[in-house]
Amino acid sequence: MTAPLDIIIMAAGRGTRMKSRTPKVLQRLAGRPLLHHVLDQAVRLQARRVVVVTGHAAIEVEAACASGAGAGAGFDLQTVRQEPQLGTGHAVQQAVPLLAGDGLVLVLSGDVPLTQADTLAALVAAAGADRMALLTVQLPDPTGYGRIVRGEGGAVQRIVEHKDASDAQRAIGEIYSGIMAVPARRLQGWLERLANDNAQGEYYLTDIVAMAVADGVPVAAHCIDDALQVAGVNSPAQLAELERAHQLRQAARLMEQGVRLADPARFDLRQDVRGGAPGQLDCGQDVEIDVGCIFSGRVQIGEGARIGAYCHIANARVGAGAVIHPYTHIDGETVGVEVGEGALIGPFARLRPGAQLGREVHIGNFVEVKNSTLADGAKANHLAYLGDATVGERVNYGAGSITANYDGAHKHRTVIEADVHVGSNCVLVAPLTLGAGGTVGGGSTVTKSTPPGALTVARGKQVSLAGWQRPAKQPKG
Ligand code: UD1
Ligand code: CA
Repeated sequence: MTAPLDIIIMAAGRGTRMKSRTPKVLQRLAGRPLLHHVLDQAVRLQARRVVVVTGHAAIEVEAACASGAGAGAGFDLQTVRQEPQLGTGHAVQQAVPLLAGDGLVLVLSGDVPLTQADTLAALVAAAGADRMALLTVQLPDPTGYGRIVRGEGGAVQRIVEHKDASDAQRAIGEIYSGIMAVPARRLQGWLERLANDNAQGEYYLTDIVAMAVADGVPVAAHCIDDALQVAGVNSPAQLAELERAHQLRQAARLMEQGVRLADPARFDLRQDVRGGAPGQLDCGQDVEIDVGCIFSGRVQIGEGARIGAYCHIANARVGAGAVIHPYTHIDGETVGVEVGEGALIGPFARLRPGAQLGREVHIGNFVEVKNSTLADGAKANHLAYLGDATVGERVNYGAGSITANYDGAHKHRTVIEADVHVGSNCVLVAPLTLGAGGTVGGGSTVTKSTPPGALTVARGKQVSLAGWQRPAKQPKG
């Protein structure tokens, strides 16, 4: 029988090297606060209870806890303040009273975002009612970390912090990751015996290792060789390094599924800016994605579709065979965007929430579409705006034309029926309906509905005032 799993996430530290007003654990990796990546791990491990230790910027961090673990998280989430911050042992001391005594406690750091669930599961499996387990890694440069000191026969004896270590101990390449699994029943007593007579004057959680050994409790070291999984974020440079490494892994996963990325080093998949789940990109067969594209929120791309360079696509479905030319910006926000099969979009197009484009629709450069439905084969190829419009099949919408959908107080709908041709530079003042098959002459300002098949020309009279002079500038004062 395995004990229930309780998790302590230490998130009270200041992180001064970030030089940021935003607390370290709320810095973003793939668009998601570091702390939310760690909470994701708790979800995957099916923890019973999670206690986040807060201190520095506690109010913000506590708010982020609430938003990071939604009702569906499946565990009970609590926060506890550590004030002042006297070390990792002191941090865990604050959390332990909130835990039942019968569990296995997994200690995580709020600034270590990329540990994989199977690694943590293996660590938990290596611990038990009378065993503790440490996650360790061999580093070519272990400077700054706690070293794993082993005795004859290789058994773990203690952890010595870098600042307290002898030269011989500093030569040890195996370091403690900051992640351990300990039976709660034992943890309590060891924490009570912690002292702070060390180089940093802190209560070190790592000192419980030597206590376990003294009490005859075996300490397992689960050593992995993937340093990225235990890498913490202490500076902007480290954050950027982890971001790239994380993105490369996401890119590699997509390529394994057959997605052709022109350059996996220039690919980004992020959480939506409005929050929510991690970014998710689902691709059909033979999808090609050129360099510099950013995907966020939930994006689906159909078979054979091609995404040009430097597109930003969020919360959208792109149909099979569609081509999104370079520099196109698509953001469906919470409503979504649909691009039909075989559609051609961009370059430099903008699709906003509620853009629903049918098959073979063409949207060209500098065309903005918002909350509008375009039926199969409709085209708006240049410099145009379609907002709150229902556009029929094969409509051709001219350059420079716009729907005047907003009267300052209310939005109104424009209906353009099938096969209408709208010339260049037209203003369609909503609400109105252009009847099927009609033509609107270039430069028209249309304020009333038109019958099917009609030619509509609605231009103001030309006025030219001969001999007109611009008023002279008035001297100041
Ligand atoms: C710690 C370990 C070290 C290990 C390293 C891995 C100790 C004594 N040392 O060192 O062996 O190699 O992590 O990265 O544990 N925190 C609090 N309250 C505090 C102090 C820290 O919540 O009073 C939090 C920090 O916000 C951070 C985590 O604990 O999330 C680790 O603290 P940090 O100061 O980074 O530990 P290190 O000195 O790096
Ligand atoms: Ca420290």
